[in-house]
Amino acid sequence: MRSYRPDLATERFPQPTLTPVAEMARANRAKLFDLFEETGGSIVYMRGGSVQHRYDTDTEAPFRQESRFWYLSGVAEPDYHLVLDLASRTFHLFTPRRDTQYAVWNGRVRSLDEIREAYAPDELHYDDQLGEVIASLAPGRVFLVDADAERAWTEHLAAHAAGVFDPASAECDTLSLNDALVHCRLHKSEAELERMRYAGQVNSYAHSEVLKALQPGATEYGMRAVLESHLIRHGLLHPAYSGIYASGTNSAILHYVENTRRMEAGELFLIDAGFEYMGYSSDTTRTWPVSGRFTDDQRWIYAVALHAHKQAVDGVAAGARMEDLHLAACRTIVEGLRDGGLLRGTTEELMDKNVFALFFPHGLGHFLGLDTHDPGGYPKGVDRIERPGIRYLRARRELEPGMVVTIEPGVYFIPALLAPAFADPALSPHLVRERIEPLLGFGGIRIEDNLAVTETGHENLTDVVKEIDDIEAVMRDAAAGR
Ligand code: GLY
Ligand code: MN
Ligand code: MN
Repeated sequence: MRSYRPDLATERFPQPTLTPVAEMARANRAKLFDLFEETGGSIVYMRGGSVQHRYDTDTEAPFRQESRFWYLSGVAEPDYHLVLDLASRTFHLFTPRRDTQYAVWNGRVRSLDEIREAYAPDELHYDDQLGEVIASLAPGRVFLVDADAERAWTEHLAAHAAGVFDPASAECDTLSLNDALVHCRLHKSEAELERMRYAGQVNSYAHSEVLKALQPGATEYGMRAVLESHLIRHGLLHPAYSGIYASGTNSAILHYVENTRRMEAGELFLIDAGFEYMGYSSDTTRTWPVSGRFTDDQRWIYAVALHAHKQAVDGVAAGARMEDLHLAACRTIVEGLRDGGLLRGTTEELMDKNVFALFFPHGLGHFLGLDTHDPGGYPKGVDRIERPGIRYLRARRELEPGMVVTIEPGVYFIPALLAPAFADPALSPHLVRERIEPLLGFGGIRIEDNLAVTETGHENLTDVVKEIDDIEAVMRDAAAGR
């Protein structure tokens, strides 16, 4: 067996030259300022994230900035605040006063000049100066992202502005700011796409390395170790969400995150994982045969899922609607399963009776950005469709250039859905029970890519093999080299 000696001095993909974060955040703020036509006396106040602890202990959780604060400030460290003066378009940043103990335990205390250079605020202050800055702005209205932010505003002023500024003198608006930020975040700037492209590129590479390592006897968490080692080496330091490393029947558990099982030959392995780069997520799923060759059933059912995936990917373009892509995927899946002998009935019957939702019970995809499930999927006045499966669709809006979405249809055999369906007089005539029952331990298949909508169609940010022949060829070569 060859020993594994990672070359830590060279990365497969050098980190790209990026638009500086201060410049990116300035452009983000400009988008927000453009949405407010304030003549004076109105400000935005936001408190950035702080370090969280595990339950009642002093064990720190890894710090991750709150997405909206990151978007507007570019600050990826804890305990900052910001104020935007909407009329003058001024960005006030408030940094904590770090003391000697901070320098001893946590890190070097940076000078104000260094902080100014990193984030380029129009005005930089210490956080205990918030009261006097607010008093000088004398706002009549304060925009806050939600009720929690309003509490933070009141608490902070009580601590630092008693006698200088009366919080009751300003009207608080906790509705408009979040809506405005959701609107701004819907369309990614080129600076944001630079980060998302790199996240996608490295995440794809790491998935490809997992494919080469997959073999009977490996553990689900071992696959996680392989993926994360490649991501972390490339500077993708934070999971975008809890990774799913699911083998055998676990692959039919949509959000399986235990990841503790040892895999056996003949099973499927589903990996749904992604890390973020500079705050921007990647979110990729692939499903592979543990032993390197799909069984006959795995092969044809995978082909059904792949057909639905490729068709939906092809449909991602400006003007497309996510719900239409979702329903088209449902049709492809029921037709594929019917042609494979698992279902009976016309396509219309199988669609009208929601038979698709027994095998594809989640949404086709969602917006992606600073959050894995990025906000904005439902414009105001558009509600979820109360129908099995599609009710979990996270985006129902018409796609526009600059939006980034995932496409992730799946085909699953979930006993908790199928057992009641066999007993349901409306559904059971459509189910070929003697063919489906032997597949109750099959697991599930999902294939997920990340796509940026462009003027002419889309740019696929994910590049991991998905054709059956390609998967088997990579696994064969990897096994031969082991
Ligand atoms: N793993 C989260 C998602 O794909 O939406
Ligand atoms: Mn995913
Ligand atoms: Mn996803």
